[in-house]
Amino acid sequence: MRTRTATSILFIALLGVSAAAVRAASADAEQQKAPAPADVSRGKAVFENSCDECHDAYSRDARVGPGLQGLKAGKLPDGRPATHDKLLEIVNHGPAEMPAFENRLTAQEKEDVVAFLMTL
Ligand code: HEC
Repeated sequence: MRTRTATSILFIALLGVSAAAVRAASADAEQQKAPAPADVSRGKAVFENSCDECHDAYSRDARVGPGLQGLKAGKLPDGRPATHDKLLEIVNHGPAEMPAFENRLTAQEKEDVVAFLMTL
């Protein structure tokens, strides 16, 4: 009886160890899949760090640049279409006096901030 209990405990412990190994292996596989899908809440944080000083996200009132509220309706404040690619180009190159973020944000941060812009 006692041996049986000990065997069961050993068996259960082994199951636990192999489940942990499987989880670790799939976490590894996940990290190799780059880039991660755009994430709106991370994009909001990028916006607060890099864009908010010049753009109000929640109105069309101008700061240094135009307020960006309303982008999800598909139009930039100047009336051009607000597509993913157009927004990414603006972030990278910055029209007129807007600074270029091409080398100041990672590819992931740019995708995240564009995803956030498209919710405004
Ligand atoms: C130092 C101020 C400044 C910062 C920081 C800044 N911008 Fe701008 N942005 C501007 C100005 C000024 C314009 C208007 C340029 C023009 O006259 O066409 C502009 C234009 C834009 C436009 C286009 C509006 C339109 O109607 O064409 C978008 C979208 C935009 N910015 C997004 C961003 C995002 C996203 C960030 C952060 C990654 C950012 N900006 C950071 C100043 C800034």
